[in-house]
Amino acid sequence: MPTASISSSRISFLDAARDQSPVKGFTHNLYKYPARFSPVFARSAIEHFTVPGDTILDPFVGGGTTMVEARLAGRHAFGSDISSLAVFLSRTKAIPLSNADLRVVGSWFQSVPNQLDIHRAVENLRTAEFEGYGRNMRWRLRKLCEQFVASVSDLPSHRHQRSARSVLLRCGQWALDCRKQVQS
Ligand SMILES: C[S@@+](CC[C@H](N)C(=O)[O-])C[C@H]1O[C@@H](n2cnc3c(N)ncnc32)[C@H](O)[C@@H]1O
Repeated sequence: MPTASISSSRISFLDAARDQSPVKGFTHNLYKYPARFSPVFARSAIEHFTVPGDTILDPFVGGGTTMVEARLAGRHAFGSDISSLAVFLSRTKAIPLSNADLRVVGSWFQSVPNQLDIHRAVENLRTAEFEGYGRNMRWRLRKLCEQFVASVSDLPSHRHQRSARSVLLRCGQWALDCRKQVQS
């Protein structure tokens, strides 16, 4: 995982609970899930109330902050959530990829633009998956996104596929969410 370690062990639990600094580090900003915990607070709670090797349960896992910090602190972690987006994000953020995995996903990304074709029909993707996210997109953009998602299945494993989907999600959030004008 990139970036330097966030260690909260030098600050009190109360100071950590009051932490207002922007969420950053590791995979925390893969997607800006609403109402994320502060990683400083999550790490402090983990360090104050558990020891390495303990198991942590976050039944409302949200953007997965606690899962990531638990793993970094050497704890086992289980999470659940009513939102399938939260579960997807938490898995993606907390399961690390090797350099070899990143190369597989990176070279797949290089190949995707050549596969996108606005005139090609996409089959079997008009599912619940796109009913919500695609509803307000212009058709061309929606179609390209659908083709992109369809081609994710070319990747060899779930962990590669999750990684690729999370990049599309992050890119979509940057380009589309709350925008009056769509980014190029
Ligand atoms: C503030 S987020 C949790 C943040 C998270 N603990 C972290 O480490 O970043 C709250 C989450 O609770 C989930 N939630 C709310 N009610 C729920 C319920 N009845 N069952 C399961 N999850 C629920 C929401 O979907 C949301 O993702």
